[in-house]
Amino acid sequence: MEQNYNETELQLEYIKKCKELLGARSDIRPVYRIQNEGCQMNSLQTETVAGILDQMGFARTEKEEEADVVLYNTCTVRENANQKIYGHLGYLKGIKKAKPHMKIVLFGCMMQEEHVIDTIRRSYPFVDLVFGTHNSFKFPELFYAMLNSDSQIIDIWKESDRIVEGLPSARKYSFKTGVNIMFGCNNFCSYCIVPYVRGREKSREPQAILREIEQLAGEGVTEIMLLGQNVNSYGKTLGTPVTFAALLKEVEKIDGIRRIRFMTSHPKDLSDELIQVMAESKKICHHLHLPMQSGSSRILKVMNRHYDKEQYLELVRKIREAVPDISLTSDIIVGFPGETEEDFLDTMDVVEKSRFDTAFTFIYSKRTGTPAARMENQVPEDVIKDRFARLLSLVQEQGRTQSARFTGTVQEVLFEEENREPGLLTGRTQHNLIVHVPGSKELIGQYRQVRLDTCKGFYYFGHLV
Ligand code: SAH
Ligand code: SF4
Ligand code: F3S
Repeated sequence: MEQNYNETELQLEYIKKCKELLGARSDIRPVYRIQNEGCQMNSLQTETVAGILDQMGFARTEKEEEADVVLYNTCTVRENANQKIYGHLGYLKGIKKAKPHMKIVLFGCMMQEEHVIDTIRRSYPFVDLVFGTHNSFKFPELFYAMLNSDSQIIDIWKESDRIVEGLPSARKYSFKTGVNIMFGCNNFCSYCIVPYVRGREKSREPQAILREIEQLAGEGVTEIMLLGQNVNSYGKTLGTPVTFAALLKEVEKIDGIRRIRFMTSHPKDLSDELIQVMAESKKICHHLHLPMQSGSSRILKVMNRHYDKEQYLELVRKIREAVPDISLTSDIIVGFPGETEEDFLDTMDVVEKSRFDTAFTFIYSKRTGTPAARMENQVPEDVIKDRFARLLSLVQEQGRTQSARFTGTVQEVLFEEENREPGLLTGRTQHNLIVHVPGSKELIGQYRQVRLDTCKGFYYFGHLV
Protein backbone atom coordinates (compact mmCIF):
# COMPACT_ATOMS: atom_id res chain seq x y z
CA MET A 1 0.00 0.00 0.00
CA GLU A 2 1.32 3.40 -0.95
CA GLN A 3 1.23 5.93 1.89
CA ASN A 4 1.99 9.09 0.04
CA TYR A 5 3.66 12.02 1.79
CA ASN A 6 4.80 13.87 -1.39
CA GLU A 7 1.17 14.16 -2.34
CA THR A 8 0.51 15.90 0.99
CA GLU A 9 3.23 18.47 0.22
CA LEU A 10 1.76 19.06 -3.22
CA GLN A 11 -1.68 19.68 -1.78
CA LEU A 12 -0.32 21.96 0.96
CA GLU A 13 1.30 23.94 -1.86
CA TYR A 14 -2.11 24.28 -3.54
CA ILE A 15 -3.63 25.55 -0.30
CA LYS A 16 -1.10 28.41 -0.38
CA LYS A 17 -1.80 29.07 -4.05
CA CYS A 18 -5.54 29.28 -3.40
CA LYS A 19 -4.95 31.64 -0.51
CA GLU A 20 -2.84 33.95 -2.70
CA LEU A 21 -5.33 33.81 -5.54
CA LEU A 22 -8.29 34.57 -3.26
CA GLY A 23 -6.36 37.43 -1.67
CA ALA A 24 -5.91 39.01 -5.09
CA ARG A 25 -9.55 38.61 -6.15
CA SER A 26 -12.54 40.59 -5.09
CA ASP A 27 -15.27 38.59 -6.85
CA ILE A 28 -15.36 35.75 -4.29
CA ARG A 29 -15.55 36.51 -0.59
CA PRO A 30 -13.83 33.75 1.38
CA VAL A 31 -16.91 32.60 3.26
CA TYR A 32 -18.07 29.01 3.02
CA ARG A 33 -20.83 26.75 4.18
CA ILE A 34 -20.24 23.00 4.32
CA GLN A 35 -22.87 20.36 4.93
CA ASN A 36 -22.24 16.76 5.81
CA GLU A 37 -24.46 13.72 5.23
CA GLY A 38 -23.83 10.12 6.20
CA CYS A 39 -21.53 8.29 8.56
CA GLN A 40 -18.78 9.38 10.90
CA MET A 41 -16.16 8.70 8.25
CA ASN A 42 -17.85 11.26 6.07
CA SER A 43 -17.88 13.74 8.96
CA LEU A 44 -14.16 13.29 9.34
CA GLN A 45 -13.66 13.96 5.63
CA THR A 46 -15.82 17.08 5.97
CA GLU A 47 -13.59 18.25 8.82
CA THR A 48 -10.56 17.86 6.57
CA VAL A 49 -12.13 19.89 3.77
CA ALA A 50 -13.16 22.52 6.34
CA GLY A 51 -9.61 22.54 7.76
CA ILE A 52 -8.21 23.11 4.27
CA LEU A 53 -10.62 25.99 3.61
CA ASP A 54 -9.73 27.52 6.97
CA GLN A 55 -6.06 27.43 5.98
CA MET A 56 -6.93 29.14 2.72
CA GLY A 57 -8.26 32.01 4.81
CA PHE A 58 -11.96 31.20 4.63
CA ALA A 59 -14.49 31.97 7.34
CA ARG A 60 -17.31 29.52 7.99
CA THR A 61 -21.01 30.24 8.12
CA GLU A 62 -24.05 28.04 8.65
CA LYS A 63 -26.20 30.14 6.28
CA GLU A 64 -26.07 29.42 2.58
CA GLU A 65 -27.21 32.95 1.70
CA GLU A 66 -24.08 34.36 3.35
CA ALA A 67 -21.62 31.97 1.69
CA ASP A 68 -19.78 32.42 -1.59
CA VAL A 69 -18.71 28.78 -1.60
CA VAL A 70 -21.19 26.04 -0.72
CA LEU A 71 -20.00 22.45 -0.28
CA TYR A 72 -21.82 19.15 0.22
CA ASN A 73 -20.27 15.92 1.37
CA THR A 74 -22.84 13.41 0.18
CA CYS A 75 -24.00 9.96 1.29
CA THR A 76 -25.85 7.41 -0.79
CA VAL A 77 -26.39 4.52 1.61
CA ARG A 78 -30.16 4.95 1.35
CA GLU A 79 -32.29 6.60 -1.30
CA ASN A 80 -33.51 9.41 0.99
CA ALA A 81 -29.93 10.67 1.48
CA ASN A 82 -29.76 10.93 -2.28
CA GLN A 83 -33.08 12.72 -2.72
CA LYS A 84 -32.11 15.27 -0.11
CA ILE A 85 -29.18 16.47 -2.23
CA TYR A 86 -31.24 16.83 -5.40
CA GLY A 87 -33.86 18.74 -3.46
CA HIS A 88 -31.22 21.05 -2.11
CA LEU A 89 -29.66 21.67 -5.50
CA GLY A 90 -33.00 22.98 -6.70
CA TYR A 91 -32.96 25.46 -3.81
CA LEU A 92 -29.35 26.49 -4.49
CA LYS A 93 -30.20 27.16 -8.11
CA GLY A 94 -32.44 30.01 -6.91
CA ILE A 95 -29.72 31.49 -4.69
CA LYS A 96 -27.17 31.26 -7.46
CA LYS A 97 -29.42 33.16 -9.85
CA ALA A 98 -29.26 36.12 -7.52
CA LYS A 99 -25.57 35.54 -6.78
CA PRO A 100 -23.91 34.13 -9.93
CA HIS A 101 -20.37 34.20 -8.50
CA MET A 102 -21.33 31.62 -5.84
CA LYS A 103 -19.44 28.30 -6.22
CA ILE A 104 -21.12 24.97 -5.56
CA VAL A 105 -19.02 21.92 -4.74
CA LEU A 106 -20.32 18.34 -4.41
CA PHE A 107 -18.24 15.43 -3.21
CA GLY A 108 -18.45 12.13 -1.34
CA CYS A 109 -20.08 8.75 -1.85
CA MET A 110 -23.02 9.73 -4.03
CA MET A 111 -20.64 11.19 -6.61
CA GLN A 112 -19.14 7.74 -7.23
CA GLU A 113 -22.35 6.65 -8.97
CA GLU A 114 -22.42 7.04 -12.74
CA HIS A 115 -26.13 7.85 -12.94
CA VAL A 116 -25.62 10.68 -10.46
CA ILE A 117 -22.83 12.21 -12.52
CA ASP A 118 -24.97 11.92 -15.67
CA THR A 119 -27.79 13.72 -13.87
CA ILE A 120 -25.50 16.49 -12.63
CA ARG A 121 -24.08 17.05 -16.12
CA ARG A 122 -27.54 17.09 -17.65
CA SER A 123 -29.71 18.86 -15.09
CA TYR A 124 -27.40 20.78 -12.76
CA PRO A 125 -24.90 22.65 -14.98
CA PHE A 126 -24.58 25.36 -12.30
CA VAL A 127 -22.63 22.98 -10.02
CA ASP A 128 -18.98 24.09 -10.26
CA LEU A 129 -16.90 21.22 -8.89
CA VAL A 130 -17.57 17.53 -8.35
CA PHE A 131 -15.13 14.97 -6.99
CA GLY A 132 -15.42 11.54 -5.42
CA THR A 133 -14.19 9.49 -2.50
CA HIS A 134 -10.96 8.23 -4.07
CA ASN A 135 -9.49 11.62 -4.98
CA SER A 136 -10.77 13.71 -2.07
CA PHE A 137 -7.13 14.32 -1.04
CA LYS A 138 -6.85 16.37 -4.25
CA PHE A 139 -9.36 18.89 -2.93
CA PRO A 140 -6.90 21.85 -2.79
CA GLU A 141 -5.70 21.18 -6.34
CA LEU A 142 -9.25 20.80 -7.67
CA PHE A 143 -10.42 23.87 -5.80
CA TYR A 144 -7.59 25.87 -7.40
CA ALA A 145 -8.64 24.62 -10.83
CA MET A 146 -12.23 25.62 -10.07
CA LEU A 147 -11.19 29.14 -9.08
CA ASN A 148 -9.48 29.46 -12.45
CA SER A 149 -12.30 28.06 -14.55
CA ASP A 150 -15.77 29.02 -15.66
CA SER A 151 -16.88 25.55 -16.66
CA GLN A 152 -18.06 22.63 -14.60
CA ILE A 153 -15.20 20.44 -13.34
CA ILE A 154 -15.98 16.78 -12.68
CA ASP A 155 -13.18 14.49 -11.54
CA ILE A 156 -14.15 10.99 -10.38
CA TRP A 157 -11.74 8.09 -9.94
CA LYS A 158 -12.97 4.51 -10.06
CA GLU A 159 -10.52 3.20 -7.47
CA SER A 160 -7.33 4.17 -5.67
CA ASP A 161 -4.89 2.37 -3.41
CA ARG A 162 -3.42 5.57 -2.04
CA ILE A 163 -3.74 6.82 1.51
CA VAL A 164 -2.67 10.43 1.86
CA GLU A 165 -1.68 11.39 5.41
CA GLY A 166 -1.32 14.69 7.18
CA LEU A 167 -3.83 17.08 5.61
CA PRO A 168 -5.29 19.73 7.94
CA SER A 169 -8.53 19.24 9.85
CA ALA A 170 -11.02 21.55 11.57
CA ARG A 171 -12.20 19.49 14.52
CA LYS A 172 -15.62 20.16 15.97
CA TYR A 173 -14.44 19.54 19.52
CA SER A 174 -10.94 20.25 20.84
CA PHE A 175 -11.06 17.28 23.21
CA LYS A 176 -12.54 14.45 21.15
CA THR A 177 -12.31 13.32 17.56
CA GLY A 178 -12.57 10.43 15.14
CA VAL A 179 -9.48 8.81 13.64
CA ASN A 180 -9.66 6.79 10.44
CA ILE A 181 -7.92 3.47 10.74
CA MET A 182 -9.11 2.06 7.42
CA PHE A 183 -11.00 2.98 4.29
CA GLY A 184 -13.37 1.10 2.00
CA CYS A 185 -15.07 -2.23 2.50
CA ASN A 186 -14.65 -5.74 1.10
CA ASN A 187 -17.75 -7.32 2.53
CA PHE A 188 -20.32 -6.74 -0.18
CA CYS A 189 -23.38 -7.23 1.99
CA SER A 190 -25.94 -7.74 -0.76
CA TYR A 191 -28.02 -4.61 0.06
CA CYS A 192 -25.14 -2.21 0.56
CA ILE A 193 -23.62 0.31 -1.82
CA VAL A 194 -20.63 1.26 0.33
CA PRO A 195 -18.13 -1.18 -1.26
CA TYR A 196 -18.99 0.25 -4.69
CA VAL A 197 -18.56 3.88 -3.71
CA ARG A 198 -15.71 3.56 -1.21
CA GLY A 199 -13.69 0.89 -2.95
CA ARG A 200 -11.61 -1.94 -1.53
CA GLU A 201 -10.61 -2.17 2.08
CA LYS A 202 -7.32 -0.42 2.89
CA SER A 203 -5.82 -0.12 6.35
CA ARG A 204 -3.57 2.69 7.48
CA GLU A 205 -0.18 1.67 8.81
CA PRO A 206 -0.34 1.29 12.61
CA GLN A 207 2.60 3.70 13.01
CA ALA A 208 0.73 6.41 11.11
CA ILE A 209 -2.36 5.92 13.28
CA LEU A 210 -0.40 5.91 16.54
CA ARG A 211 1.60 8.98 15.52
CA GLU A 212 -1.62 10.83 14.72
CA ILE A 213 -3.20 9.89 18.04
CA GLU A 214 -0.06 10.93 19.93
CA GLN A 215 -0.18 14.25 18.18
CA LEU A 216 -3.88 14.64 18.95
CA ALA A 217 -3.23 13.81 22.61
CA GLY A 218 -0.52 16.50 22.58
CA GLU A 219 -3.14 18.97 21.35
CA GLY A 220 -5.50 18.13 24.21
CA VAL A 221 -7.65 15.37 22.70
CA THR A 222 -8.62 12.83 25.37
CA GLU A 223 -11.32 10.78 23.62
CA ILE A 224 -10.88 9.15 20.25
CA MET A 225 -13.15 7.07 18.06
CA LEU A 226 -11.34 4.69 15.71
CA LEU A 227 -13.28 4.55 12.46
CA GLY A 228 -13.72 2.05 9.67
CA GLN A 229 -16.59 0.21 7.95
CA ASN A 230 -15.43 -2.97 9.61
CA VAL A 231 -12.77 -2.24 12.20
CA ASN A 232 -12.59 -5.90 13.20
CA SER A 233 -10.87 -6.72 9.93
CA TYR A 234 -8.32 -3.92 10.41
CA GLY A 235 -4.79 -4.74 9.36
CA LYS A 236 -5.48 -7.88 7.34
CA THR A 237 -4.32 -6.31 4.08
CA LEU A 238 -1.16 -4.68 5.46
CA GLY A 239 2.32 -5.82 4.37
CA THR A 240 2.86 -6.88 7.98
CA PRO A 241 -0.63 -7.87 9.17
CA VAL A 242 -1.78 -6.53 12.54
CA THR A 243 -5.04 -7.34 14.34
CA PHE A 244 -7.47 -4.69 15.53
CA ALA A 245 -7.07 -5.99 19.08
CA ALA A 246 -3.29 -5.48 18.83
CA LEU A 247 -3.79 -1.95 17.53
CA LEU A 248 -6.12 -1.19 20.46
CA LYS A 249 -3.47 -2.35 22.91
CA GLU A 250 -1.00 0.13 21.40
CA VAL A 251 -3.52 2.97 21.44
CA GLU A 252 -4.19 2.21 25.11
CA LYS A 253 -0.53 3.02 25.91
CA ILE A 254 -0.76 6.59 24.61
CA ASP A 255 -0.60 9.10 27.48
CA GLY A 256 -3.37 11.65 27.56
CA ILE A 257 -5.95 9.44 25.88
CA ARG A 258 -8.62 8.55 28.44
CA ARG A 259 -11.40 7.10 26.33
CA ILE A 260 -11.22 4.90 23.26
CA ARG A 261 -14.24 4.14 21.12
CA PHE A 262 -14.51 2.36 17.78
CA MET A 263 -17.00 1.88 15.01
CA THR A 264 -18.16 -0.24 13.21
CA SER A 265 -17.74 -3.83 14.30
CA HIS A 266 -18.91 -6.54 11.94
CA PRO A 267 -20.10 -9.55 13.96
CA LYS A 268 -18.40 -12.01 11.61
CA ASP A 269 -14.94 -10.70 12.55
CA LEU A 270 -15.44 -9.95 16.24
CA SER A 271 -12.69 -12.04 17.82
CA ASP A 272 -12.32 -13.47 21.32
CA GLU A 273 -9.04 -11.56 21.42
CA LEU A 274 -10.95 -8.30 20.97
CA ILE A 275 -13.48 -9.17 23.66
CA GLN A 276 -10.63 -9.91 26.02
CA VAL A 277 -8.84 -6.66 25.20
CA MET A 278 -12.09 -4.79 25.88
CA ALA A 279 -12.53 -6.55 29.20
CA GLU A 280 -8.97 -5.81 30.33
CA SER A 281 -8.70 -2.27 29.05
CA LYS A 282 -8.96 0.76 31.30
CA LYS A 283 -9.67 3.10 28.42
CA ILE A 284 -11.92 1.32 25.95
CA CYS A 285 -15.47 2.49 26.57
CA HIS A 286 -18.03 -0.09 27.56
CA HIS A 287 -20.06 0.47 24.45
CA LEU A 288 -20.18 -1.76 21.40
CA HIS A 289 -22.05 -1.03 18.20
CA LEU A 290 -22.71 -4.41 16.66
CA PRO A 291 -25.04 -4.19 13.66
CA MET A 292 -27.19 -7.32 13.38
CA GLN A 293 -29.19 -6.22 10.28
CA SER A 294 -31.60 -9.14 10.63
CA GLY A 295 -32.34 -11.88 13.15
CA SER A 296 -33.26 -14.44 10.53
CA SER A 297 -30.48 -16.86 9.60
CA ARG A 298 -32.02 -17.30 6.18
CA ILE A 299 -32.08 -13.55 5.46
CA LEU A 300 -28.59 -13.07 6.94
CA LYS A 301 -27.33 -15.62 4.42
CA VAL A 302 -28.92 -13.80 1.49
CA MET A 303 -27.56 -10.55 2.92
CA ASN A 304 -24.09 -12.15 2.72
CA ARG A 305 -23.37 -11.34 6.37
CA HIS A 306 -21.50 -14.59 7.19
CA TYR A 307 -23.13 -15.22 10.57
CA ASP A 308 -26.47 -16.59 11.66
CA LYS A 309 -28.96 -15.89 14.42
CA GLU A 310 -27.31 -18.25 16.91
CA GLN A 311 -23.83 -16.92 16.26
CA TYR A 312 -25.02 -13.36 16.81
CA LEU A 313 -26.70 -14.27 20.10
CA GLU A 314 -23.61 -16.19 21.17
CA LEU A 315 -21.47 -13.09 20.55
CA VAL A 316 -23.83 -11.00 22.65
CA ARG A 317 -23.60 -13.58 25.41
CA LYS A 318 -19.80 -13.64 25.33
CA ILE A 319 -19.53 -9.85 25.38
CA ARG A 320 -21.95 -9.51 28.30
CA GLU A 321 -20.04 -12.17 30.19
CA ALA A 322 -16.72 -10.39 29.66
CA VAL A 323 -18.00 -6.81 30.12
CA PRO A 324 -21.20 -7.05 32.20
CA ASP A 325 -22.16 -3.35 32.08
CA ILE A 326 -21.62 -3.07 28.32
CA SER A 327 -23.96 -0.86 26.36
CA LEU A 328 -24.89 -2.64 23.15
CA THR A 329 -26.26 -0.87 20.10
CA SER A 330 -27.19 -2.15 16.69
CA ASP A 331 -28.43 -1.46 13.15
CA ILE A 332 -31.44 -3.34 11.80
CA ILE A 333 -32.95 -3.40 8.32
CA VAL A 334 -36.65 -4.12 7.81
CA GLY A 335 -38.09 -5.33 4.53
CA PHE A 336 -35.06 -6.89 2.86
CA PRO A 337 -36.26 -8.71 -0.31
CA GLY A 338 -38.03 -11.95 0.54
CA GLU A 339 -38.38 -11.17 4.27
CA THR A 340 -41.38 -13.14 5.57
CA GLU A 341 -43.33 -12.59 8.78
CA GLU A 342 -41.40 -15.52 10.25
CA ASP A 343 -38.06 -13.91 9.35
CA PHE A 344 -39.24 -10.68 10.90
CA LEU A 345 -40.25 -12.47 14.11
CA ASP A 346 -36.70 -13.81 14.30
CA THR A 347 -35.47 -10.21 14.19
CA MET A 348 -37.87 -9.28 17.01
CA ASP A 349 -36.65 -12.31 18.96
CA VAL A 350 -32.97 -11.34 18.67
CA VAL A 351 -33.81 -7.77 19.70
CA GLU A 352 -35.63 -9.05 22.77
CA LYS A 353 -32.80 -11.35 23.74
CA SER A 354 -29.97 -8.90 23.03
CA ARG A 355 -31.27 -6.02 25.17
CA PHE A 356 -29.91 -3.18 23.02
CA ASP A 357 -29.46 0.25 24.55
CA THR A 358 -30.42 1.67 21.17
CA ALA A 359 -30.83 0.28 17.72
CA PHE A 360 -31.01 2.24 14.49
CA THR A 361 -33.85 0.84 12.44
CA PHE A 362 -33.88 1.29 8.67
CA ILE A 363 -36.39 0.51 5.98
CA TYR A 364 -34.63 -1.44 3.26
CA SER A 365 -33.67 0.88 0.43
CA LYS A 366 -33.01 -0.48 -3.04
CA ARG A 367 -29.55 0.61 -4.21
CA THR A 368 -28.86 0.35 -7.93
CA GLY A 369 -25.92 -1.91 -8.66
CA THR A 370 -26.21 -4.09 -5.55
CA PRO A 371 -27.28 -7.76 -5.81
CA ALA A 372 -30.37 -7.19 -3.61
CA ALA A 373 -31.71 -4.56 -6.02
CA ARG A 374 -32.00 -7.29 -8.65
CA MET A 375 -33.95 -9.63 -6.38
CA GLU A 376 -37.53 -10.02 -7.49
CA ASN A 377 -39.32 -10.63 -4.23
CA GLN A 378 -39.29 -7.05 -2.89
CA VAL A 379 -41.59 -6.69 0.17
CA PRO A 380 -44.75 -4.55 -0.29
CA GLU A 381 -44.60 -1.11 1.28
CA ASP A 382 -47.55 -1.55 3.65
CA VAL A 383 -46.05 -4.76 5.05
CA ILE A 384 -42.73 -3.01 5.62
CA LYS A 385 -44.41 -0.07 7.34
CA ASP A 386 -46.28 -2.36 9.71
CA ARG A 387 -43.12 -4.31 10.62
CA PHE A 388 -41.10 -1.13 10.99
CA ALA A 389 -43.62 0.28 13.48
CA ARG A 390 -43.60 -2.93 15.53
CA LEU A 391 -39.83 -3.08 15.59
CA LEU A 392 -39.45 0.58 16.48
CA SER A 393 -41.82 0.26 19.40
CA LEU A 394 -39.93 -2.76 20.76
CA VAL A 395 -36.56 -1.05 20.31
CA GLN A 396 -37.77 2.11 22.04
CA GLU A 397 -39.35 0.30 24.94
CA GLN A 398 -36.22 -1.77 25.43
CA GLY A 399 -33.98 1.28 25.04
CA ARG A 400 -35.83 3.02 27.85
CA THR A 401 -35.48 0.04 30.16
CA GLN A 402 -31.82 -0.42 29.30
CA SER A 403 -30.94 3.26 29.69
CA ALA A 404 -32.72 3.39 33.05
CA ARG A 405 -30.46 0.73 34.52
CA PHE A 406 -27.92 3.37 35.52
CA THR A 407 -30.39 5.42 37.60
CA GLY A 408 -28.84 6.46 40.91
CA THR A 409 -25.31 5.39 39.96
CA VAL A 410 -22.27 7.66 39.78
CA GLN A 411 -20.61 7.75 36.37
CA GLU A 412 -17.74 9.65 34.86
CA VAL A 413 -19.00 12.19 32.34
CA LEU A 414 -17.05 14.03 29.68
CA PHE A 415 -18.70 17.43 29.23
CA GLU A 416 -19.15 18.37 25.61
CA GLU A 417 -21.23 21.52 25.26
CA GLU A 418 -23.65 23.97 26.77
CA ASN A 419 -27.26 22.96 26.63
CA ARG A 420 -29.80 25.25 24.97
CA GLU A 421 -31.22 25.68 28.45
CA PRO A 422 -29.04 28.19 30.29
CA GLY A 423 -26.94 26.83 33.15
CA LEU A 424 -27.05 23.24 31.89
CA LEU A 425 -24.15 21.33 30.40
CA THR A 426 -24.38 18.22 28.27
CA GLY A 427 -21.94 15.35 28.41
CA ARG A 428 -21.62 11.63 27.86
CA THR A 429 -20.80 8.61 29.96
CA GLN A 430 -18.53 5.91 28.60
CA HIS A 431 -21.71 4.00 27.72
CA ASN A 432 -22.54 6.84 25.34
CA LEU A 433 -25.47 7.97 27.48
CA ILE A 434 -26.24 11.67 27.31
CA VAL A 435 -26.40 13.48 30.65
CA HIS A 436 -27.52 17.05 31.38
CA VAL A 437 -25.98 18.57 34.47
CA PRO A 438 -26.12 22.05 36.05
CA GLY A 439 -22.66 23.58 35.74
CA SER A 440 -20.57 26.28 34.15
CA LYS A 441 -19.01 26.10 30.73
CA GLU A 442 -15.47 25.89 32.14
CA LEU A 443 -16.24 22.19 32.58
CA ILE A 444 -16.46 21.61 28.82
CA GLY A 445 -13.77 19.14 27.80
CA GLN A 446 -13.40 17.88 31.37
CA TYR A 447 -14.27 14.61 33.10
CA ARG A 448 -16.29 14.72 36.30
CA GLN A 449 -18.15 12.25 38.51
CA VAL A 450 -21.89 12.69 38.12
CA ARG A 451 -24.82 11.08 39.88
CA LEU A 452 -27.48 10.06 37.34
CA ASP A 453 -30.68 11.18 39.04
CA THR A 454 -33.52 10.82 36.55
CA CYS A 455 -33.69 8.92 33.33
CA LYS A 456 -35.80 10.58 30.63
CA GLY A 457 -35.90 7.71 28.21
CA PHE A 458 -32.65 8.12 26.33
CA TYR A 459 -30.92 10.75 28.43
CA TYR A 460 -30.39 11.65 32.07
CA PHE A 461 -30.49 14.60 34.39
CA GLY A 462 -27.75 14.42 36.97
CA HIS A 463 -25.61 16.45 39.34
CA LEU A 464 -21.88 16.77 40.04
CA VAL A 465 -20.70 14.82 43.09
N1 SAH B 1 -20.17 -1.01 7.86
C1 SAH B 1 -21.23 -0.96 8.75
C2 SAH B 1 -22.46 -0.25 8.23
C3 SAH B 1 -22.36 0.95 7.37
S1 SAH B 1 -23.86 1.53 6.70
C4 SAH B 1 -21.62 -2.41 9.10
O1 SAH B 1 -21.44 -3.30 8.33
O2 SAH B 1 -22.17 -2.59 10.13
C5 SAH B 1 -24.82 1.83 8.15
C6 SAH B 1 -26.10 1.04 8.20
O3 SAH B 1 -26.94 1.42 7.13
C7 SAH B 1 -25.95 -0.44 8.05
O4 SAH B 1 -25.57 -1.07 9.21
C8 SAH B 1 -27.31 -0.87 7.58
O5 SAH B 1 -28.14 -1.20 8.66
C9 SAH B 1 -27.83 0.37 6.88
N2 SAH B 1 -27.95 0.15 5.44
C10 SAH B 1 -26.95 -0.09 4.57
N3 SAH B 1 -27.47 -0.29 3.33
C11 SAH B 1 -28.81 -0.16 3.44
C12 SAH B 1 -29.90 -0.27 2.53
N4 SAH B 1 -29.71 -0.55 1.25
N5 SAH B 1 -31.15 -0.08 3.00
C13 SAH B 1 -31.37 0.20 4.31
N6 SAH B 1 -30.39 0.30 5.20
C14 SAH B 1 -29.12 0.12 4.78
FE1 SF4 C 1 -21.95 -2.18 3.83
FE2 SF4 C 1 -21.63 -4.60 4.77
FE3 SF4 C 1 -19.50 -3.12 4.21
FE4 SF4 C 1 -21.03 -2.51 6.28
S1 SF4 C 1 -19.82 -4.37 6.04
S2 SF4 C 1 -20.24 -1.11 4.75
S3 SF4 C 1 -23.05 -3.04 5.57
S4 SF4 C 1 -20.97 -3.91 2.75
FE1 F3S D 1 -22.97 7.08 3.43
FE2 F3S D 1 -20.67 6.79 2.29
FE3 F3S D 1 -20.82 6.62 4.90
S1 F3S D 1 -22.58 6.04 1.52
S2 F3S D 1 -22.87 5.85 5.24
S3 F3S D 1 -21.26 8.40 3.71
S4 F3S D 1 -19.49 5.45 3.57
